[in-house]
Amino acid sequence: MNKNVIEKIENLRAKIRYHDGKYYVDNSPEIADYEYDQLMIELRSLESSHPKLITPDSPTQRVGGEPVSEFTSFEHRVPMLSIDNTYSDEELREFDKRIRRMLKDAHLNDEVGQADDIEYVVEHKIDGIAITLWYENGVFTRGATRGNGFRGDDVTTNLRTVKDIPLRFLCTDHTEIPPEIEIRGEIYLPDKDFQMLNQGREEAGEAQFANPRNAAAGSLKLLDPNTTAKRPLRLFAYSFGFYGDSKFTTHIECLESIEKFGLPVNPHYKLCKDIDEAVSYCNSWEAKKSDLDYQVDGMVIKVNSLELHDRLGSTSKAPRWVISYKYHPEEATTRIEAITVQVGKTGTLTPVAELSPVPLSGTTVSRASLHNFDEIERKDIRVGDNVVVQKAGEIIPQVVKVLVGKRTGNEKRFDVPERCPACESEVTKEEVYLKCYNPLCTAQAKRRIIYFASRNAMDIEGLGPALIEQLVDKKVIRNYADIYSLKLDELVPLERVGEKSAQNLIDAIEESKARDLHCLICALGIQNIGTHAAEVLSKNFGTLDRLMDASVEELDEIFEIGEITAKSIINFFSNSHTQDVINKLKAAGVNVKATHSKTDAVSDIAGKSFVVTGTLNGYTRKEIEDIIKNLSGKVSSAVSGKTDFLIAGESPGSKFEKAEKLGTTILNEDGFENLINKI
Ligand code: IVH
Repeated sequence: MNKNVIEKIENLRAKIRYHDGKYYVDNSPEIADYEYDQLMIELRSLESSHPKLITPDSPTQRVGGEPVSEFTSFEHRVPMLSIDNTYSDEELREFDKRIRRMLKDAHLNDEVGQADDIEYVVEHKIDGIAITLWYENGVFTRGATRGNGFRGDDVTTNLRTVKDIPLRFLCTDHTEIPPEIEIRGEIYLPDKDFQMLNQGREEAGEAQFANPRNAAAGSLKLLDPNTTAKRPLRLFAYSFGFYGDSKFTTHIECLESIEKFGLPVNPHYKLCKDIDEAVSYCNSWEAKKSDLDYQVDGMVIKVNSLELHDRLGSTSKAPRWVISYKYHPEEATTRIEAITVQVGKTGTLTPVAELSPVPLSGTTVSRASLHNFDEIERKDIRVGDNVVVQKAGEIIPQVVKVLVGKRTGNEKRFDVPERCPACESEVTKEEVYLKCYNPLCTAQAKRRIIYFASRNAMDIEGLGPALIEQLVDKKVIRNYADIYSLKLDELVPLERVGEKSAQNLIDAIEESKARDLHCLICALGIQNIGTHAAEVLSKNFGTLDRLMDASVEELDEIFEIGEITAKSIINFFSNSHTQDVINKLKAAGVNVKATHSKTDAVSDIAGKSFVVTGTLNGYTRKEIEDIIKNLSGKVSSAVSGKTDFLIAGESPGSKFEKAEKLGTTILNEDGFENLINKI
């Protein structure tokens, strides 16, 4: 191979990457588009004469993937959690107080210094699509959407078309490039590109996107990467996910490093010395945000110290070291045409306002949740009222207030139902909610069965809402255990069911009996238990019987299960009707054992409190702490009466003495490994 050609190709690629960085990251291009295009043309022509020299990270290789029929699933090594929201200065200050309280409660002040010097980094909350990008030795290998936080879609080929995403890190110092690193950020579509895209769609007679976020999501999830390549998607990166042994100590350092790697970080981040400064920075953007050419739905406030991130940890939904400050959403005025009542799967009655359709933040709103019946009274909402609506959390519209001045006298008060609209049994008031506790209520039964058969639960193909409606209305089934006694001749007479699809359904039902325990736990429809919590419970208890026998304390000790969830589990299983249904499931042969359970040994770690001290040989501090947390153990920094295990490396110091005094079990690294290997 001609050495000159190789060199020429490499030089061209380096030049193009440099100018990509100038254009996309620094926002200050040094050459005109024409010159840039000439570089690309030259590179393309050299590569087409020497196809063996084409590498996947060449700038010419962004587009070229074949359309796919569906995306493959992508499991996140580190969960992509969500962020808790706040809407006021007070709530932000409460967040700061909560952090201090938690650090204090965990006796951590000694290690973190007085908790009164917590710095925050405040960033724009970009209203786009969360994605993750994996780089191996500086080369982009895989990228995915967030999905449910634990599993997303592999959209690598589409992400390769996003010019902000370098196919290879732009930094030249190779000693800084880690073997493996995960960068997270938000894909968005700038406002002007959104408008152009919609204009083009209108001209072509195609449906328009409701807002830039939907347009970005739609573009990223196209099955043909060539179409995605035509959408000018952009990226702001905001954190690392997995970062191996890289020694970062602050979030600011992470942002600087991401920029060094060549990924764009939103320039408006600010290091604030305390919560007051963070609050004023958040406020300062409320009026200015409309000047930006991308959508910002709030600010994100992050603790700067990564050590504090570790110490504060996460709930199963969101890390405790971050909070968002959401700006007040847009409002619109419309009329309430009617108020209807929905019955949820746990029997809660929810009033819903049926509205005259009105455009709001990019979508047309025709229904709004009224949350509960007290709310109707408190806001004095009447049928026929003109009301102000807004989207809370951007998705579910809600009624903010009634325009009392517009009343004509023909508005009608809504009568709070005394009976369930579906089964007519009397309802019970529980705090602000009305509940139907009739275990045989058909509305609830339908919702529960729909949930039971759904994809994330028992995944019974062919058993969808329409069929379940019919089966319950015709009294063929009353609860989800009845699914397992369905017969072919009960299905065939139903609407839109043929002989063949009935047999397929019977087969799918049979097949679902073998689902892993976590699917069943999720399918039961226990309040507050979604897919992830179900996996945690399945791993910790191993069998349904053990879970049913668990006490609140046992449940509460599990790292990711809070007190409220623990109570709803206990409530659920203590109901005699539930017990009957579960007995039926068991009798039908539904699997009630976990395949990957942590047997008894697991309970040696799950819910137990660990302190690590001294120098370890086989692990970094973070690694050993992550192992413990992954096995649902707790890590704290100070030894107390509540500590179950002290893991002591070399030169352990005073914690060792304290643990000896308290009679805490002390393990060396081998002892710890024995403990985890029992699993
Ligand atoms: S940090 C664990 N920083 O907001 C949370 N997220 O509502 C780590 N988002 O899923 C995310 N701008 O998609 C972070 N500057 C920013 C962000 C940001 C937008 C999104 C992100 C997340 C969602 C949560």
